[in-house]
Amino acid sequence: MSTKAVLITGANGEIGHGLITQLTERNPNLRVVALDVHPVNKELKERCHETIVGDIMDTVMIDRLAAFYDFQSIYHLAAILSTKAEREPVLGHRINVDGTLNLLELAARQSRASGENVKFLFPSSIAAYGLPDVETKMRAGKVKEDEWSSARTMYGINKKYCEDLGRYYNWYYRQTDPQSAAGHVDFRAIRFPGLISAVTLPTGGTSDYGPEMMHFAAQGKEYNCFVPETATLPFMVMVDAINALLQLEAAPAKNLTALVYNIGAFSVTAKEFYDVIKKYFPGAKVNFAPDALRQKIVDSWPADVDDSLAKREWGWKHEYDFHRAFEEYLIPAVKQRYQK
Ligand code: SER
Repeated sequence: MSTKAVLITGANGEIGHGLITQLTERNPNLRVVALDVHPVNKELKERCHETIVGDIMDTVMIDRLAAFYDFQSIYHLAAILSTKAEREPVLGHRINVDGTLNLLELAARQSRASGENVKFLFPSSIAAYGLPDVETKMRAGKVKEDEWSSARTMYGINKKYCEDLGRYYNWYYRQTDPQSAAGHVDFRAIRFPGLISAVTLPTGGTSDYGPEMMHFAAQGKEYNCFVPETATLPFMVMVDAINALLQLEAAPAKNLTALVYNIGAFSVTAKEFYDVIKKYFPGAKVNFAPDALRQKIVDSWPADVDDSLAKREWGWKHEYDFHRAFEEYLIPAVKQRYQK
């Protein structure tokens, strides 16, 4: 008999940290199997049934997992983020696409063997969009899921293709088989905006300037911001992002017509970020020294997203708007973190 469990890849990353904490707080009996290329920290380890240091490209390790566990849900969070994938496009493609395919296959095999659907939660991104220039971006305003879909980064292209793979595994997998299987991959994805956490820092992303500005200010360090003051992106705090994943996971499948959803909270300029940070850290020093290449990526991502589909189909609603996010969540937590 295999053990029922939940699998989290990229467990040591930003979303993984918060997700493991939330999942095990809500259900202390849940068996979480955490996989990451780096060892997960002690505090997280204690919350997990098993932690594995391993690579999602390692199919022998994935087969071993399949032999020991029946996964009810897979949160596939492991990825190479946008700036890093631009520097190493083939590596980005391997991890972001081939790695995702390995996990989708695991979910498909397990669902067919057990006859029960395996939920597959996938973080997609605003990088799935591609706007031609900053003027068009600012004119476009809130972008819907099916607009401006020509992604311009390796990471964005990878995410968009994996959304399609997810739809395929959900609706059409092995559609020419004479008999359809009882269980299938129940794929669900969120196109996240830039995420801001008080406890971890992102690595290799392009929306990193937001959280980096805050973490540098909290440590009394000067920050060189790689986008201009006017650069605008949608952002969200990590708690809202994790709540969204859990809410989407819990939604009845019959309500989900699209499988891939925008979610939004606030859209701000880099200058607005700096202004709010100065309010709490008056000595904060930010030099705006745009890096033309990274700025080009930001310019191709939407300034804001239309999340009415998520609101309609699974009741999405953010809790933290811009000012509340800093006042009640980010600043107290980040102060505590660096005062330790
Ligand atoms: N935050 C990610 C990045 O900047 C986008 O999903 O790469």
